[in-house]
Amino acid sequence: MKNLIAYFSREGNNYVGGRILHLPVGNTEVAAKMIQKLTGSDTFRIDTVKEYPSDYNKTTDVAQHELRENARPELSGRVDNMDDYSVIFLGYPNWYGTMPMAVFTFLERHDFSGKTIIPFCTHEGSGMGHSESDIKKLCHATKVLKGLPIRGGSVQRAEDDISAWLRELGVID
Ligand SMILES: Cc1cc2nc3c(=O)[nH]c(=O)nc-3n(C[C@H](O)[C@H](O)[C@H](O)COP(=O)(O)O)c2cc1C
Repeated sequence: MKNLIAYFSREGNNYVGGRILHLPVGNTEVAAKMIQKLTGSDTFRIDTVKEYPSDYNKTTDVAQHELRENARPELSGRVDNMDDYSVIFLGYPNWYGTMPMAVFTFLERHDFSGKTIIPFCTHEGSGMGHSESDIKKLCHATKVLKGLPIRGGSVQRAEDDISAWLRELGVID
């Protein structure tokens, strides 16, 4: 059985340590690539049909609206071979205390029963928020392990923390 890293990440302008910075690669994608390098897992990027604006404030408007509406933004792809995976690392930025609504779509559109989901999230202060309990509400008969929160602004220096976490989980030696 192989492991999968499924992640949502938004490149473009973002709020990092109190400033708006342009991120050519999103923070969660940086963390996902570190996990990929350390574990050799397959990766799947959760993308929406309608892209989020690269402008930070425009994205917060769209994201707030989606959260209020409990929206399920349409995704541009799916994992057809989910049966091949027993462990899914699920990565996302903390948006308003939980996952972007596109990650809710992803969780609802696949069957995770009998599998283990290991969340990781990048954030600017809110940690995992209530995302882990939201995952549990959406995925029944799925083991959801405690996730790893990573400060978005420090993600480039997170490799040691990530490898310690993977060792603790018994995923790497
Ligand atoms: C729409 C939106 C909402 C956000 N809400 C929060 C929040 O509630 N708490 C927090 O700590 N960070 C919040 N952030 C910051 C992101 O979680 C952080 O910048 C993250 O590292 C972005 O990951 P990405 O580059 O992979 O998209 C928010 C960012 C955006 C764009």
